[in-house]
Amino acid sequence: MRVRFGLLSTAAINGAVLGARSADASFELVAVGSRDGARAEAYARTHGLGRAHGSYGDLLADENVDAVYIALPNALHHEWTMRALAAGKHVLVEKPYTRFPKQVDEAWDEAERRGLVLEEAYMWRHSAQTRLMLDLLPRIGEVRAVHSTFTATLAREDDPRWVQELGGGALLDLGCYCVSAARLLLGEPDGVHGEARIGRGSVDEHFAGTLRFGDVVATFQCGFTSPLVDEIEVIGAEGVLRVPHAFVNPPGVVLLNGEEHRVEPGNAYGAELEDVCAAIRGERSVLLGRDEMRNQARTLAALLIRRRLQPP
Ligand SMILES: NC(=O)c1ccc[n+]([C@@H]2O[C@H](COP(=O)([O-])OP(=O)(O)OC[C@H]3O[C@@H](n4cnc5c(N)ncnc54)[C@H](OP(=O)(O)O)[C@@H]3O)[C@@H](O)[C@H]2O)c1
Repeated sequence: MRVRFGLLSTAAINGAVLGARSADASFELVAVGSRDGARAEAYARTHGLGRAHGSYGDLLADENVDAVYIALPNALHHEWTMRALAAGKHVLVEKPYTRFPKQVDEAWDEAERRGLVLEEAYMWRHSAQTRLMLDLLPRIGEVRAVHSTFTATLAREDDPRWVQELGGGALLDLGCYCVSAARLLLGEPDGVHGEARIGRGSVDEHFAGTLRFGDVVATFQCGFTSPLVDEIEVIGAEGVLRVPHAFVNPPGVVLLNGEEHRVEPGNAYGAELEDVCAAIRGERSVLLGRDEMRNQARTLAALLIRRRLQPP
């Protein structure tokens, strides 16, 4: 039986999940919940969803929903994940789950106690392109340096990314991918440093960070006031890997010493939903489990207060 997902909010990013529907998928999207009943109704009609709920609570009370996709402003992820788990729903929740490692453990404790699946939606980690990058990595020898950039221009005036209380700011929205990339390539950092340019709403509109992994230092830049750049460069003792479009709709291209390597890109949003479904069926654990989520939160927390980390 297909896993019946409900969309918790009418967020813009839902479009990517709606676009991942297919006849042979292990999931179906059956309902939406919004703070506004009329918005939920219109959304359900437009996107062919069976049921519309005028509150998130009503969506969670829907017995014909097995799992929810939570795409809320960042500061609301933990609260609604806890409520969803308490209602017996599996959860796929958008990145960054939280900047508080303790909240990761609270959520995982609750999920495990209830036998439910929880995963943080770092879609790029599920892409075929990211696997290609990892496959090519040994060919550049020992990694000497990693640099990544994720910048984009925010179009909407009322974007929650400009609101500090909603978990706004470039580090949490975009830099979290750079942190995810550095950790994927190098392990867990033992020291971090960050510099921010503070902008509208007192959020970091641009953030530059360093993460130290023993002798190797990874650097990154992220921000809301420049054109789209989402790339990773890995410099090894014997070569260089570049991923020119690492995070947004990965096209399946990695450069090894300037030579193009390609893979069929597939649909990374579909792949992450399939990962949750496979875990629900008991076939495997989710790709991004408790430790991954906690270490991501721990690193973001340290960068936000720009201090040295304690050992894990
Ligand atoms: N994985 C990816 O590729 C990717 C890409 C973009 C964003 N994201 C993540 O997805 C999440 C949502 O991002 P988005 O850009 O799609 O969000 P968005 O379009 O701004 O939508 C957020 C939704 O949250 C609900 N909401 C509840 N309380 C709110 C409040 N106080 N202010 C504003 N909205 C509120 C609203 O839905 P209702 O009005 O219907 O209740 C709104 O539609 C974020 O965590 C972001 O980091 C992930």
